[in-house]
Amino acid sequence: MDILKVENLTKKYGNFTAVAGISFSVQKGEIFGFLGPNGAGKTTTINMLTGLAKVTEGSAYLAGIDCVKETKRAQGLMGIVADESNLYPEMNGWENLNFCGALYGLEKNERKERAWELLELVGLKEVAHKPFGAYSRGMKRRLTIAAGIIHNPEVLFLDEPTTGIDVKSAREIRKMLLDLNKRGTTIFLTTHYIEEAERLCDRIAFIVDGKIVKIDSTRGLLEEAQRGQTVQFTLGNGSLKPCEILRGAFPGYRCQVIDAKTIRVHSGKAIDLIPIVDVFKDNSLALYEAKVIRPTLEEIFVQITGIEAKKIKTGGDKK
Ligand SMILES: Nc1ncnc2c1ncn2[C@@H]1O[C@H](COP(=O)(O)OP(=O)(O)OP(=O)(O)O)[C@@H](O)[C@H]1O
Ligand SMILES: [Mg+2]
Repeated sequence: MDILKVENLTKKYGNFTAVAGISFSVQKGEIFGFLGPNGAGKTTTINMLTGLAKVTEGSAYLAGIDCVKETKRAQGLMGIVADESNLYPEMNGWENLNFCGALYGLEKNERKERAWELLELVGLKEVAHKPFGAYSRGMKRRLTIAAGIIHNPEVLFLDEPTTGIDVKSAREIRKMLLDLNKRGTTIFLTTHYIEEAERLCDRIAFIVDGKIVKIDSTRGLLEEAQRGQTVQFTLGNGSLKPCEILRGAFPGYRCQVIDAKTIRVHSGKAIDLIPIVDVFKDNSLALYEAKVIRPTLEEIFVQITGIEAKKIKTGGDKK
C-alpha cells in the first residue's frame, strides 16, 4: 500500500528549477531513500513534503491527506528530522523531549513516560540532565530523532541522518532506524552515501539535478549491477592514457580512472579479458594485475548518472 504518493513535484527559485517534476510513491513499512550528490534537490524535496518549503507545482499525499493543502493535518502523521537540529541548546535532553511532547499535545504524564522511553531507545538516558548544547554531534542527532518520533508518526522523514557524524554514532543511528522500521515506522531519508542507502533502504531513488534518474528496489539494483562485470587493472606508469585507448578499442565498455596506475572497466555483460590484455600489449602498457570487482550499487550509480563515485561520497563509515 502506498503511504506517500508524489506526482510532478516541482520547486522553482526564480528561473532556477531545483526539483523538476518528480513522481514516486513510498509503500507503508518500507525504508525509502533519496540518494544524490550535493545540490541534487534532496533537501528541497523533503522540505516540500514536510511543509517546510512551498511547493511550486505538483502534489503529495500522505495516507490520503493532501500535504500541500492540508499541511498541518499531514504533519500530524510525520516525524521530521531536518539536517540542522531544531532543539534548544539550553534545555537538557529530557526537557527538550518533554517540550516537544507538549507541542504535539501529549498529556503531562504521557509525555514524561514517553521522554524516558525515548531516551532509553536512543541510548541517552545517562545524559538526560545534560544541556543539549553540551551533547556531541552524534548525541544531538540521536536526540533529534527521538524528538521526531515522540508522537509515534506514521512516516519519519530524515535529511542526511548520518552526515557529519563519527563512524560509531553513524552505525548506532542506522541500527536505530532499522529497529524503528521493524516496529512499523515507514522511513523516508536522504543521503549522499551510496553504502548507507544500500545498507538501509528497501528502495532507492537516484536524484540528480532535480530529477529522478532511477528508482528501484535495492535488491533489483544490485541484481542489475551483478549482471554486468567490473574488472580493475593495475598498469605501469606511463604517459599513455589507458582509458582513452580502451574506449577507442571497445566502445561498449565504460572505463573509469581510479588513480595514476589503476583503471576500472565496466560492462553490462561479462568482460572478455584476453582482447583487453592484447590491446595493452599492442600499446606497450605494462599490466601488473587484473581483478574482478564485486559489483555494488556504486557501479550502477556511476553508470546511470555518469557521476564519478568520488563526487557522491561513498562510505559513510570512512570519514
Ligand atoms: N532558497 C534557495 N534559493 C535559491 N536556490 C536554492 C535555495 N535552496 C536551494 N537552492 C538550490 O536548489 C538546488 C537543490 O538544493 P538542495 O539543498 O535541495 O540540494 P541537496 O540535494 O539537499 O544537496 P546537499 O547534499 O548539499 O544537502 C541547489 O542548486 C541549491 O543551490
Ligand atoms: Mg541537503
